[in-house]
Amino acid sequence: MGLVHSKPASHATLPDSGYQYQWWHPCLQQPIPPTLPLINIAWSIFHFLHIFSNRHCSVLLIRHGSRIVHRSCVLPRFFRWPFMAADDLQITAVWTHPEFRHLGLARFALTTILQRFSDGKRTLWYLTQSDNPASLALSHAAGFSPFAAMERKNRFGIHALGNFRIVNHCPRPAQGRFSSETASVIPAANFLHQQGPTTS
Ligand SMILES: CC(C)(COP(=O)(O)OP(=O)(O)OC[C@H]1O[C@@H](n2cnc3c(N)ncnc32)[C@H](O)[C@@H]1OP(=O)(O)O)[C@@H](O)C(=O)NCCC(=O)NCCS
Repeated sequence: MGLVHSKPASHATLPDSGYQYQWWHPCLQQPIPPTLPLINIAWSIFHFLHIFSNRHCSVLLIRHGSRIVHRSCVLPRFFRWPFMAADDLQITAVWTHPEFRHLGLARFALTTILQRFSDGKRTLWYLTQSDNPASLALSHAAGFSPFAAMERKNRFGIHALGNFRIVNHCPRPAQGRFSSETASVIPAANFLHQQGPTTS
């Protein structure tokens, strides 16, 4: 079982004034979030049909000049993540353009999302694979800690219709220990709640 030491999601800034960020929200004019494939039109459909459990579906985009160089998505509960509560959100499909990695863009994005959506009550989730050290390090840097090992189940033999379920909860994080044996689903609500105004 992996343990991860959690630390506060501290203030983050963009590298310089050449970078700007903006939010995408489901809309008829641009139903597919920039940088994502056609299939992600589903997010706009889920939003407008109220398949998403709340109204906060959004994507944070960071631009460098005219290029989008980072994307972090924020999704409510839907059939894939039945373990989430109705008001919860999950940060997912986090991506930084390979030429712009290790500049703190993902950390900035997660910190900005946490500051916008943490209200001390909802849980913010982050799912990652145990064999993705960059993603694990990012979640750790943003203040997430392991919650449970997860299992993905196909439905009707179809991967896209599958869902995740919790197979076993992680013990409380131990100071300074880090292991990546398990895929982890990571809630931040209690942690963020403790941080007060810096993260909410
Ligand atoms: C994971 C990813 C989004 C990180 O983006 P990034 O903009 O380079 O990340 P940052 O520069 O903000 O780094 C955030 C933290 O993660 C750490 N980190 C980033 N890449 C890392 C790597 N390859 N190995 C170890 N740690 C890494 C950084 O050191 C930093 O920690 P620190 O602030 O304590 O120094 C990027 O590598 C990526 O797009 N990967 C492919 C898609 C993916 O795996 N997404 C995550 C799953 S949804």
